Amino acid sequence: MSLTIPEHIRSLKPYIPGKPIDELEREYGIRHSIKLASNENPLGPSPLAVAAIRSALDGLHRYPDDGGHELVHRLAAHLSLGPDAIVLGNGSDEVLTMLARAFLQPGDMAIIPQPSFLMYELVVRWAGAECRFVPLKNMTIDLEAMLAQVTDRCRMVFLCNPNNPTGTVVSRKAFDAFLEKIPADLVIVLDEAYGEFVRIDDCPRGIEYIHGDRAVVTLRTFSKVYGLAGLRIGYGLMAPQTAAMLHRVRIPFNVSIPAQAAAIAALDDTDFIDKTRRLIRDGLAFLTGALDDLGFRYFPTQANFFLIDVETSADDIYEQLLRKGVIVRSMSAYGYPRYIRVNVGLPEENDRFIQSLDKIRSKG
Ligand SMILES: Cc1ncc(COP(=O)(O)O)c(C=O)c1O
Repeated sequence: MSLTIPEHIRSLKPYIPGKPIDELEREYGIRHSIKLASNENPLGPSPLAVAAIRSALDGLHRYPDDGGHELVHRLAAHLSLGPDAIVLGNGSDEVLTMLARAFLQPGDMAIIPQPSFLMYELVVRWAGAECRFVPLKNMTIDLEAMLAQVTDRCRMVFLCNPNNPTGTVVSRKAFDAFLEKIPADLVIVLDEAYGEFVRIDDCPRGIEYIHGDRAVVTLRTFSKVYGLAGLRIGYGLMAPQTAAMLHRVRIPFNVSIPAQAAAIAALDDTDFIDKTRRLIRDGLAFLTGALDDLGFRYFPTQANFFLIDVETSADDIYEQLLRKGVIVRSMSAYGYPRYIRVNVGLPEENDRFIQSLDKIRSKG
């Protein structure tokens, strides 16, 4: 083949997801593995969502409602916003791609904290634009340093709050000061994929900034607290004029019928959401207590995952945990070669992870 591939595509590294359980079991010939690698909901999907999917199946010969009318109106009522401030995506990942497609072009620059969610770099580069990475400070997004990188070419800034993979949040005061100084012609993407897990009050909430004089776009997802990662549904909240641009680049029928039905039902599943939050809170208390007992250093988190310093090669610990049927994430690809990222699982999964880590360390 003699295809001409644009350099900005050829030089990309594809996104590497957490290892799926099936793949691990196939490759290693083991069974009963557990996955604590993709910050998913260990309780499974919202039961109300599952029931709604079942009822929606008879309508699958039709295309979905293109703009997701009912879901958008339910979200609007739920969030006290106008429906024209909401754009649905096939996962919030898709809203990220729409943002880059609508607002970036070759020659533009986007500012990205590092490390943070790996998709930001991909969507920027797919658009032919460039990334400027700004290191974290004390494991937290350094808003001052990000501001210092703004130039005439900058069109977009990404903030992940809580940040994946560190679980840290920026304070309200720091975010307000940042907004005051950032030029008004930049899109500020505030990714709140883990916002529902935040336990402190001092955390800015993107929804409060939609009608301000800065273009803050807040991303949310049904993949985490609602347990619907496998369906792929998320949304963005933004000023209606920003939303109108995303609709210009949105693929028609981008959110499937089951996904729309499930999300509508999941919104009302408060029992499930409360149960999930309790599970995460209690699981974090158990895991951090057990790590204290074992003498591991870890980083306080506001999300459903956190970083552990394994004081040796994270790739090596990752590999050894895999052999014991425990999937976590090595942070070497994120620039932290000694850290693993682990999400809270069911109590028995948390226990198995701790036991496995302890065994590996006492052996090594
Ligand atoms: C920070 C962050 N944003 C967005 C996503 C993607 O969410 P979705 O499943 O809605 O595409 C993830 C998934 O892990 C994430 O960690």
